[in-house]
Amino acid sequence: MNSSVTAKDVAGERAWQRCAEPRCGARYGIDERLYVCPRCGGLLDVEGDKEKSGDAQSLRDVWAARRASSDARDRSGVWRFRELLPFGDDAPVVTLGEGNTPLYDAPRSAAYCRLDALRLKHQGCNPTGSFKDTGMTTAVTQALVLGARTVVCASTGNTAASLAAYAARASLLCAIFVPRGQISHGKLAQSLDYGARVLELDGNFDDAMRAVREAAEDESIYLVNSINPFRIEGQKTVAAEMLEQLAWAVPDHVVVPGGNLGNSSALGKGFKELYDLGVIERLPRLSVVQAEGAAPFARMFAGEEQGPLDGRRAAEEVSEDSFRAAEHPHTLATAIKIGAPVSWKKALRAVRWTGGRVVGVSEQEIADAKAVIGRDGVGCEPASATTVAGLKRLVADGFVRPDESVVAVLTGHILKDADYVIDYHRGALRSRDLSSDEKGEGRSIEGTFANAPVRVAATREAILEQLGRASRVADSPGEIDDQSGRGGSDSPRGVA
Ligand code: F0G
Repeated sequence: MNSSVTAKDVAGERAWQRCAEPRCGARYGIDERLYVCPRCGGLLDVEGDKEKSGDAQSLRDVWAARRASSDARDRSGVWRFRELLPFGDDAPVVTLGEGNTPLYDAPRSAAYCRLDALRLKHQGCNPTGSFKDTGMTTAVTQALVLGARTVVCASTGNTAASLAAYAARASLLCAIFVPRGQISHGKLAQSLDYGARVLELDGNFDDAMRAVREAAEDESIYLVNSINPFRIEGQKTVAAEMLEQLAWAVPDHVVVPGGNLGNSSALGKGFKELYDLGVIERLPRLSVVQAEGAAPFARMFAGEEQGPLDGRRAAEEVSEDSFRAAEHPHTLATAIKIGAPVSWKKALRAVRWTGGRVVGVSEQEIADAKAVIGRDGVGCEPASATTVAGLKRLVADGFVRPDESVVAVLTGHILKDADYVIDYHRGALRSRDLSSDEKGEGRSIEGTFANAPVRVAATREAILEQLGRASRVADSPGEIDDQSGRGGSDSPRGVA
């Protein structure tokens, strides 16, 4: 790795940054250390010269051929699509072999949503267990290009874990800002082990985000939250990887969870660029799902401050003036416990480009959807399960037809938040209803598909007796298919 390489050397004039505000559109060099437009404060996009990419068929051929290569960049599911990235051939690539995540058929989850079929793109299979790695490889590479020495982010846990790992690989100093007591142990453990300086701040994620943006005004510090457009560049390649796995047959719908709204922005940009390059002939509808207690984006679509978050309005009908940050975001899906998502304008643009929707789902819906995904043998963290919960609503509303092709993007690994899983299956999961600071009992989440462990005497008879009961329960039909989404007396809870 050579940190003295400058961005001009690696990218020449083939890439630049541009303000994403249509009224501004100011253009900046690719090597300027910016997070927002200095002129108007808008978010920035990285743009590139399409001519360097080549025609659609040769792009697909090159990307496919690289799957047989042992070059470190070709082993990465991000850098394999490097024609889409704003880096030159000699970029000091920092990679952990990210991407290359599976696309699973999920028949039980499909039945639960009343879909004929459903595919799950499992971004939790990345090196640090979340989709963040696909953007961190490019953001930390850009940090080296810029000669940064310290990289920082605010995080609900996954961005932190990912940055900590990539910073370690690149021998950069790393500080992460997390809301104290509000991130899962698994994620905290990762950041500690990868050697990051972990700053636990009083307040929530939005407070941490404000603090880290102030800290990053110092020239020596490079901020790699998804406000950084180089994060988005890496994350957008998931669009290409997914479509390649589908033999370039564009799905009708793609559904993602929404927190800080970087991922939806990135996928939208990815699909749009592939469309503009002629690699695909139409766009999938991109829909975003938020947790009801942390749903400023979904509220914008619902068209009212309170009331059901069923995304009744099309993106075109939504006025940007109606966006209101949520002051006290609350959800047990701590990854997306965010009230003031930084990238909401880019996410709105993505939903508009593609004709998608935005919905909110309850804690109960998230918990049940998560357990159903588990029954497909896949498993994910709570935030990821918003996708299946949201799809169930979108099918019920008639926005998604049962025979349409659908991909749900799972963003984090099941072991990221094991406490949540155990609590659900033991029937001990409780949500807080008001502010994040509220103490007390909270509302209990029903263990609809709970599968509690069973205490058994260590004798052959007791074990066989127990297994006999378990197989009778497993044979009973329809527990997930149930119209109400409730397990009823045939649920495996009967095992306990
Ligand atoms: N799913 C998981 C597992 C996440 O960790 C996040 C965000 C999201 C979904 C939402 O993605 O922010 O791009 O809309 N986690 C960030 C973090 C905020 O700090 O780890 P988004």
